[in-house]
Amino acid sequence: MFNLDRKLIISASVAAAVAVFSGCMSGNAEPKGESTVNGKPTIDGGVYYPVVNDKTGPYYVNPQVAIDAKKIYNGRVPTANELKAWDKDLMPDGTGYPEGEGSVEDGEALYEAQCVMCHGDFGSGGGGYPALAKGNGYELKKTLTNNRYKNADGDGPVRVFGSYWPKVSTLWWYIQDGMPHPMSKTLTVDETYALTAYILNINEIEYEGEPIDEEFVLDREKMMKIVLPNNDGFIPNIDGPTGPDDVRAFYADPNNFGAKKVNPAERCMKDCLEPTAKVTYIAGAGISEFLPPMATERSLPKTEESNGGAKKHYEEACMMCHADTSMGAPAVGDAKAWAAVTAKGMDAVYHNGINGINGMPPKGGSDLSDADFKSVVDYMISQSK
Ligand code: HEC
Ligand code: HEC
Repeated sequence: MFNLDRKLIISASVAAAVAVFSGCMSGNAEPKGESTVNGKPTIDGGVYYPVVNDKTGPYYVNPQVAIDAKKIYNGRVPTANELKAWDKDLMPDGTGYPEGEGSVEDGEALYEAQCVMCHGDFGSGGGGYPALAKGNGYELKKTLTNNRYKNADGDGPVRVFGSYWPKVSTLWWYIQDGMPHPMSKTLTVDETYALTAYILNINEIEYEGEPIDEEFVLDREKMMKIVLPNNDGFIPNIDGPTGPDDVRAFYADPNNFGAKKVNPAERCMKDCLEPTAKVTYIAGAGISEFLPPMATERSLPKTEESNGGAKKHYEEACMMCHADTSMGAPAVGDAKAWAAVTAKGMDAVYHNGINGINGMPPKGGSDLSDADFKSVVDYMISQSK
């Protein structure tokens, strides 16, 4: 049931987001440019959306969504078969996994076609999407104990599939049920084995002591045999017949998860744990070198175009005389010549250039505006220092 609930929650939140959006568009609450609408205060000059069934604070929500989020499946009740497709138990011991197979080679082709745009070349990540590999999983596993709190300048743990995940089967399930986002459930069983094989390959994982190479073909049986580097890194051990008891014993002792019950004998819903977890705040923790963002300004640096394309104008209208001294003009790059020119003061220089002087035709014969002409002069001087 875990998968089912997860999907339903995702669908419901997407539906809610759509509802908010269509609420904006449907004219239910047009912006009025007032600080209050219908007597209610607006937020940041925004629009007040009426509260429906007291369910969603200031946002207007499609009442059909709010009635029962669990009924939403692309806006309708899922059919019995749809429920069945999501409702499955896939266990690390192989229970629930279908037979099938796929090669690293096929997986690579599928990856290039359906995954690389988000997860990057060889699973390198980037663009806000998670990396699926960062090199050799066995080596990277060693980084998991790197502690940023004790060693602020050191590297933190690298958590990718190869270094962190305990079971290959979880990867298979994740890909089959969740990827390629947002077209989940479009991969066949064999394609899922192939993609899993490819991701094992780029994480440099071994099968029976041998590196998983391009020729490797993964099937259900082999998948269960592969032991990932961090297989034993998780507590409690949820595998096997003692799994449920392990979990119970683990949570019975608050020391295992860094929290002590105020009153261990009592059932409790509020303020149950002693505040044992250590929280570090930036102020007061002795971190003095915390730097605020460099600037709150979001504008991009000036480009050639935004200063009128001075370089381009120079090349088109001035270079034929100003590249060297052969035309009797001060050459761009000749600091001494330009120092003599600018010694007159820039007002005079602009004036002479715009109106012409000696061998210098007005504006060099160009039809630049005064402002653009001046920016070309500035450009030429900046190149002559
Ligand atoms: C449109 C972008 C997109 C595409 C295409 C895509 N993914 Fe993902 N993938 C994501 C996002 C976003 C997440 C993180 C989801 C989360 O953390 O809830 C993710 C997570 C994953 C993870 C889990 C990573 C981890 O360590 O937590 C795996 C494995 C994965 N994707 C495999 C694939 C495979 C295989 C394909 C191609 C069949 C694919 N993805 C295609 C966006 C994408
Ligand atoms: C036909 C050749 C020619 C072209 C084209 C030309 N210049 Fe000139 N420019 C000259 C000459 C020759 C001088 C030197 C005039 C002098 O001796 O007083 C000069 C001088 C100048 C000066 C110095 C004025 C001063 O006060 O001494 C500036 C500034 C200048 N040019 C800018 C430009 C710009 C900008 C362009 C292009 C838009 C341009 N020129 C195109 C020939 C040219």
